[in-house]
Amino acid sequence: MLRLFLLISFFYFTGIETSAQQDSFYILTPPPPVQPRLNNPLVYGCRSGNDFLYRIPCQGERPIVFTVKGLPKSLRLDKNSGVISGKSPAKGTYQLNVIAKNKHGVNTKSFKIISGEKIALTPIMGWNHWYAYFDKPTDALIRQAADVMLSNGLADAGYNYVCIDDCWTNAYEKNRMPIQDSLRLKRRRDSSGSILPNDYFPDMKAMTDYLHQKGFKAGIYSSPSKRTCAGFEGSFGYEEKDAKQWAQWAFDLIKYDRCSYPDDAPYNTLEQAKYPYEKLGQALKKINRDIYYSLCQYYGSEKDGDVWKWGGSIGGNSWRTGTDINAFLPDVFKVALRNIQFAAYQKPGEWNDPDFLMLGWLGNRRTGGIYRTTMHPNTQYAYVSLWSLMASPLFFSSRIDKIDAFTLNLLTNHEIIAINQDPLGLCGRLVTLNEKQFLLVKELHDGATVVGIFNRNSTDMEIKINLKDIGLKETYDVRDCWRQVLIGHDLSSFQTTVPAIGCAVIKFSKTN
Ligand code: GLA
Repeated sequence: MLRLFLLISFFYFTGIETSAQQDSFYILTPPPPVQPRLNNPLVYGCRSGNDFLYRIPCQGERPIVFTVKGLPKSLRLDKNSGVISGKSPAKGTYQLNVIAKNKHGVNTKSFKIISGEKIALTPIMGWNHWYAYFDKPTDALIRQAADVMLSNGLADAGYNYVCIDDCWTNAYEKNRMPIQDSLRLKRRRDSSGSILPNDYFPDMKAMTDYLHQKGFKAGIYSSPSKRTCAGFEGSFGYEEKDAKQWAQWAFDLIKYDRCSYPDDAPYNTLEQAKYPYEKLGQALKKINRDIYYSLCQYYGSEKDGDVWKWGGSIGGNSWRTGTDINAFLPDVFKVALRNIQFAAYQKPGEWNDPDFLMLGWLGNRRTGGIYRTTMHPNTQYAYVSLWSLMASPLFFSSRIDKIDAFTLNLLTNHEIIAINQDPLGLCGRLVTLNEKQFLLVKELHDGATVVGIFNRNSTDMEIKINLKDIGLKETYDVRDCWRQVLIGHDLSSFQTTVPAIGCAVIKFSKTN
């Protein structure tokens, strides 16, 4: 018995898998073509006069040469990398056309820049260090994440934020989970009150320069309390100063995590719940930089004042709708069904956030080892499908350097990503079929409708949909988005086998 336990622990913590496990990681999506395939969203928001940076995501064999028609004068394009940079143009809408060419072919796609008040007109996509490295992030690991995302195709699929989570500052000595590393226990602020990164981040600006040069945006983290969730320096009382510092370091995103706020102050009313977030929101408004404001109240519960009702009004671009995803896994259906309740509150620039995509190889905070998610592959398909259909931020938080072919395939299906990035920004509408099966029906900007068919039963199920029952009154061409194949013409009903605790994602476009 003991031997068996030791053997299982060995596989668990070293990450060595049996071939039976490997086999079950079935890949549905064909690899990207050698010809260029542009993956930019159709619409992109920025604020006039601020720094602009966008790397056009494009799959296909490199070298690829990019051309952009209609580029405003304040912007320039690096034709080899596809990075557009410069200053955001005067307020207005700019209709661009992107062309990508390599020795195998050409692809073109439209790209509308709206220079106005809003950023993140489609859900943002990226990587966050939390479930990979927990309290041990370093400058080198952040840079490495960007390098890996460029080399393994994640960036070409659209993932362009690289984010540090908690633990880049110095920690308090007395801590709920004491920090042993003296290099993370130094002075938390200097004599003028400026926040100090710990020794693992020797030069924040050099690090963000590195990310920006490669076309990535950089994210940072803090808390409105004295301490962050892991017991590191937070921003309580230094909100304006810290916001200016993040901007000077050229960060593009701040995740603001409630943690121990309000320390000793009362926390019972809506005003009290809103206060710390409004405070940073006001500080960020004074800064001439497009900084995505990610609200995270840790619990995201009703006690926190129903953040989905006011997060957008105080400048938030997204807000967590529930507690940490690791507490809920593997039941991602539960997380999604909670998030869907708040569907009406999200719109382009203001998103519900059901937390990270915690897939692939994960860090183990206690042992420092790694393990592969134990979630069934069917459910992993459902996980990504749900986030796509809900238009949730797509943030992969796992060991990016260890990403395997299955996980990469899950994250880079351009048809699934396009559903997430649809300019209407709708969260799929819930249609309950019975206790254990439901549909998410999402209308797209071009008149097509995508239906996620979800099966929470532990056996595969045959599921039939009469299209008129979900408001589709004509006949349709039917496409399987995971397999990227057309599976029927002229249909008015549809039937398929949906795997146990899994899904099918089907797109219905009007037959011409
Ligand atoms: C909270 C957040 C997590 C992560 C940790 C860091 O638990 O919800 O996403 O940021 O804090 O300590």
